[in-house]
Amino acid sequence: MPATSTSRSASVFKPRAMQHKREAFWFYRFLSIIYDQSTNLGPWTEDMRDAAVEELDLNDPNMVVVDVGGGTGFTTMGVVNHVDAKNVTILDQSPHQLAKAKQKEPLKDCTIIEGDAEDLPFPTDYADRYISCGCIEYWPEPQRGVNEAFRVIKKGGKACIVGPVYPTHWLSQIFADMWMLFPKEEEYIEWFQKAGFVDVKLRRLNPKWYRGVRRHGLIMGCCVTGIKPTTGSSPLVLGPKIEDVKKGVNPILFLWRCFLGFIGVHCYSLIPIYMWIKDQIVPEDRPI
Ligand SMILES: C[S@@+](CC[C@H](N)C(=O)[O-])C[C@H]1O[C@@H](n2cnc3c(N)ncnc32)[C@H](O)[C@@H]1O
Repeated sequence: MPATSTSRSASVFKPRAMQHKREAFWFYRFLSIIYDQSTNLGPWTEDMRDAAVEELDLNDPNMVVVDVGGGTGFTTMGVVNHVDAKNVTILDQSPHQLAKAKQKEPLKDCTIIEGDAEDLPFPTDYADRYISCGCIEYWPEPQRGVNEAFRVIKKGGKACIVGPVYPTHWLSQIFADMWMLFPKEEEYIEWFQKAGFVDVKLRRLNPKWYRGVRRHGLIMGCCVTGIKPTTGSSPLVLGPKIEDVKKGVNPILFLWRCFLGFIGVHCYSLIPIYMWIKDQIVPEDRPI
């Protein structure tokens, strides 16, 4: 797996504007209204989702699967093509996103619950498979979320996390840093290995029209998988959570982060359009 992300000095925006649970909650309060009509038609397509689900090896319809940060159930729709919906749980911190999932006929037998990806309400060694698509970018402590993925799956089970990749273009780096977590490919691998996963693999994902793959980064840019070799919790023991949603937040800080997030999301919404236009114009044998 070649590592292509450029190294860069620490961003002044860290943790990024939307890399906070309360800010992400409010972001999805509004985005949930148009999520299925926007995100899933542009930067996170059915082809990409099916490629990620394929990596999960859903080879038995009786498998117990948890979809963490499952939102409106777009990824879960790919999962229930392979396993019985009654064995699938969709978890998300946004009731507004989950309300959309509840309306989908193929998901009517799934269990749909509110919860935090960094503190999952499942017993240890519970599921055969864990999937989380497009959620890690909001986690204040990604290592904690990956450790939870490790804890809740059974020995021999598989976890799959889909998330953004850090851009190599300087301008996109600024907007990415302003907005949310865009990990480097090697960071994903490191989090999985530190959590205790073995056979860790990374597969790049991108829409068909996105040829300049890493240059501007993608919100759903790679899919990382790992196998749990033992029972129990991750051998990597972490201290207390750095962010508790139940605690209050400074309103000025909250508004500042929302403002930064607002700029970031707008710039990142323009990138797919820009790349799509370039794909139409630049001859196929030339990189873009
Ligand atoms: C980009 S959406 C992805 C939804 C879905 N997985 C899909 O494939 O379309 C990200 C989701 O992560 C959820 N989320 C963000 N932070 C979370 C957290 N700490 N715990 C649980 N869900 C979270 C958001 O509410 C949102 O529904």
